[in-house]
Amino acid sequence: MLDLPKICYTVSRITMSSPDFPMPTALSTVTLLVCTKGKCAKNRSEKTCQRLRELVDERGLDDVIEVKKCGCLGYCKDGPNVMIEETGKVLTDIAPKKAGRVIEKILSKMG
Ligand code: FES
Repeated sequence: MLDLPKICYTVSRITMSSPDFPMPTALSTVTLLVCTKGKCAKNRSEKTCQRLRELVDERGLDDVIEVKKCGCLGYCKDGPNVMIEETGKVLTDIAPKKAGRVIEKILSKMG
């Protein structure tokens, strides 16, 4: 049985192409919550989660970025969805091949 965190944020949606990528530069650590339920699961969110974890490992970012599985984030038809826990913003349509872009965007916002 997975220990999934409860989501209790005011959630809003944002796309990867948004100029306002939801990452305040003051953050020194980030937690990514990957929905692994319902439609997200059907759209290979487990693979997205796995790829995010691989990239974090490969780049030695374990102290900076944590990747966790979570339940439904409310944007099911646009999944796989990934929430930046610290901001409550949800990145939609994060297919496994987009995992690298997520990591790069986060790192660029962290300075
Ligand atoms: S099933 Fe993933 S957001 Fe609802």
